[in-house]
Amino acid sequence: MMVVRMFVSSRRVKIWQLVNLFAISSILTFMFYWGTTDNLVVSHMKSYSYRYLINSYDFVNDSLSLKHSMDGATRYQYLINHKEKCQAQDVLLLLFIKTAPENYDRRSAIRKTWGNEEYVRSQLNANIKTLFALGTPFNPLTREELQRNLVWEDQTYNDIIQQDFVDSFYNLTLKLLLQFSWANSFCPHAKFLMTADDDIFIHMPNLIEYLQSLAQIGVQDFWIGRVHLGAPPVRDKSSKYYVSYEMYQWPAYPDYTAGAAYVISNDVAAKVYEASQTINSSLYIDDVFMGLCANKMGIVPQYHVFFSGEGKTPYHPCIYDKMMTSHGHVQDLQDLWKAATDPKVKTISKGFFGQIYCRIIKIVLLCRLTYMDTYPCRAAFL
Ligand SMILES: *[C@@H]1O[C@H](CO)[C@@H](O)[C@H](O)[C@H]1NC(C)=O
Ligand SMILES: *[C@@H]1O[C@H](CO)[C@@H](O)[C@H](O)[C@H]1NC(C)=O
Ligand SMILES: *[C@@H]1O[C@H](CO)[C@@H](O)[C@H](O)[C@H]1NC(C)=O
Repeated sequence: MMVVRMFVSSRRVKIWQLVNLFAISSILTFMFYWGTTDNLVVSHMKSYSYRYLINSYDFVNDSLSLKHSMDGATRYQYLINHKEKCQAQDVLLLLFIKTAPENYDRRSAIRKTWGNEEYVRSQLNANIKTLFALGTPFNPLTREELQRNLVWEDQTYNDIIQQDFVDSFYNLTLKLLLQFSWANSFCPHAKFLMTADDDIFIHMPNLIEYLQSLAQIGVQDFWIGRVHLGAPPVRDKSSKYYVSYEMYQWPAYPDYTAGAAYVISNDVAAKVYEASQTINSSLYIDDVFMGLCANKMGIVPQYHVFFSGEGKTPYHPCIYDKMMTSHGHVQDLQDLWKAATDPKVKTISKGFFGQIYCRIIKIVLLCRLTYMDTYPCRAAFL
């Protein structure tokens, strides 16, 4: 009996290996054929086949690991810091906003709306800590004046952390390291950590309610946002997101959430921080870098349909009832905040007719034949 059983199971293994081998070799053949052309469709197909068939990212450890681990926190000095900011014990959410020195108006609008700690405390009964993360002014001509203004701004609001690196698009990963090392040093007890752009909108009441319910069940390994599945690196040299083969040689990134806004639990923050100390940080696309770190620690992102990533919300109360984040709000931030947090929003979808009405509205707004970058159609059915 034993012999027969072993025979059967080893045969199964062999067949499975053959199937696997066949799949991988056909993919490799395809890749070889496509190797010469390089357009968007092809690179997406390559990355998808890579993700769904091979789906092994062990190379992250092998190829992108640093030989000696460095302490990112000591690489750049803090110019502005608030070590004591997080001393309260029961911090639900540590909220980082990635901003640039010249974006005073954006910070100002965020302080009056979704980033307002006092609003969250008094209206939502939760503790959040809001911090604006930035580097030093990019333009040498205006550097000194901008820096003076920043120091003044910080004296008024006490909510800026700044390190001594030049604030630029290609230094976004340094800004990510700043956030994770700050959280690790000064706020490891916050239950959740969120990082967000300064041109997005966050529906704080909905988000806080959601996080409170998660905190109650003690969620772990939690990472949520708009997930990019098997995204291919951009190889077009004229693109802002161009990544050379030297930096990243494989056809797909591990899954990651759009950097516009995502939330992680504190155990994930600790693990990602640990990984970030061992991975080559020359890859300057910060959300991809975060994905590499998380992948190394075996953490997988979850898609939340009301995190819009780079997409924008349709303006309608039936959507506000459920929305979490929306991208591209600078001029209209305060108006949207007022409309979206209006108590009337919660009543409109109440009751039998309210539900039917909002279902129809959401289908009309989200399920279109032409592509729009907003919440996916299935969000209409939740
Ligand atoms: C990652 O690679 C290093 C050496 O490059 C090795 O010592 C370590 O065990 C690897 N870790 C994992 C999880 O494979
Ligand atoms: C990133 O910051 C470092 C440190 O300030 C600076 O030397 C470098 O030029 C910056 N890189 C870019 C692309 O701005
Ligand atoms: C990181 O990777 C880049 C290539 O993208 C390489 O030039 C650099 O030497 C690497 N740094 C370390 C410390 O390994």
